Amino acid sequence: MNQDELKALVGQAAVAHVVPGSVVGVGTGSTVNCFIDALARIKDQITGAVSSSERSTERLKSHGIPVLDAATVERIPVYVDGADEIDHGGFMIKGGGAALTREKIVADLAERFVCIADESKLVQVLGNFPLPVEVIGMSAAQIARRFKALGGEATLRPGVLTDNGNPILDVRGLRITDPLAMETEINQWPGVVTVGIFARHKAQVCLLGTAGGVKTLTF
Ligand code: 5RP
Repeated sequence: MNQDELKALVGQAAVAHVVPGSVVGVGTGSTVNCFIDALARIKDQITGAVSSSERSTERLKSHGIPVLDAATVERIPVYVDGADEIDHGGFMIKGGGAALTREKIVADLAERFVCIADESKLVQVLGNFPLPVEVIGMSAAQIARRFKALGGEATLRPGVLTDNGNPILDVRGLRITDPLAMETEINQWPGVVTVGIFARHKAQVCLLGTAGGVKTLTF
């Protein structure tokens, strides 16, 4: 199976984690696109979706799935999203698609984070994938200097502004052995909107697409 087939496999498998009669949290990315397409087949069984990006909103609406304003939703049972990397504790790097801030907001509404990923995303230590950080523009140079002190090389993602109108820094060269501590530290830096370490909002379940089928990891 190629990577696209593995993404389709886990996208379909995630539908079994949707709670009938509830609002579903929906992430962003190519794996989530497969989930949205599969969700469309059971759309009559859900109340609607809370979306983490304009792209996902558009795709959900194209299937006739109602998209609710996050501000009107207090709690949702399940949030389904992909990851750029996930480790054996369920900690993740996210934001390769620049949607990390809204992803963390929707994840914060959810009881359970169900991560869907192909097996290339499972790592021993986070950090091989450049860490995305959404920042306020005027703080970018200072934040890049702070990352340098930690051994990271931060560069602005060219031509990209998030749905919130902010730039993204991609940080190479970090070895994130303590995701919770690093997320907490970076969150304190003035100008950081969201760091793409999902430790406080880690996955409870990962549906991993492998050559042998879907493997369910629980954390
Ligand atoms: C978007 C994300 C995505 O979940 C992540 O980039 C994985 O994307 P894909 O499913 O396309 O590999 O965090 O901001």
